[in-house]
Amino acid sequence: MSVEYITGRKVSLRKANPEDADLLCKWYADGRVMIHVGFPDGLHGDIDELRQRLAVIDKGNSLFIILDEYGNPIGECNFNNLNKESCDIGIKICEIAYQGKGYGQDALTIFVKHLFTTYGLERICLNTLLENHRAQNLYLKTGFKIVKTNYDCWIDPTGTSRSSVEMVLTKNDADFVK
Ligand SMILES: CC(C)(COP(=O)(O)OP(=O)(O)OC[C@H]1O[C@@H](n2cnc3c(N)ncnc32)[C@H](O)[C@@H]1OP(=O)(O)O)[C@@H](O)C(=O)NCCC(=O)NCCS
Repeated sequence: MSVEYITGRKVSLRKANPEDADLLCKWYADGRVMIHVGFPDGLHGDIDELRQRLAVIDKGNSLFIILDEYGNPIGECNFNNLNKESCDIGIKICEIAYQGKGYGQDALTIFVKHLFTTYGLERICLNTLLENHRAQNLYLKTGFKIVKTNYDCWIDPTGTSRSSVEMVLTKNDADFVK
């Protein structure tokens, strides 16, 4: 089966498949990456369950692998709760050495462009931790706006109370899509 790529300046994206389960589990277990999404000790999920999930075509949820300019996997982005108007997204540059070098911005730009044009969405939503200024800066730069702050909305696995920020990118604010 041929693999479709969404290509940007520095990165490309391809749909994750069951063979990516090992790498994704390794990334999710890495506290240095996952601390920024509220899991300081990483997430230690069931690899077989993930492998099975990646084998199923689910129209409302999907996960993509982010590849660098040489085709090396460096992170993932995903959408959930897809409906006629909107979806929720997430993004992680999981190889630490690749963070802060423009890969996240390129991946986010082509990902949201793909979602707006493929599904005719009105808006794309996301949730980030209040203290994750690096991610918020990237989202603001891409045109997302903060719509709500939820203080003390979640207790993380270490028992720490966390606050989150809801952000939205509307079709009209996504200049690069037009
Ligand atoms: C957040 C993340 C996706 C950003 O991707 P990245 O490749 O590291 O960032 P980029 O190099 O593309 O930078 C894009 C913009 O992000 C912001 N940014 C990047 N590094 C930053 C830092 N250390 N501090 C503040 N802002 C920063 C800036 O606005 C930057 O634009 P600029 O370089 O013109 O100032 C990536 O760092 C990551 O995956 N972190 C761990 C997981 C995570 O936090 N995911 C988001 C969950 S909501």
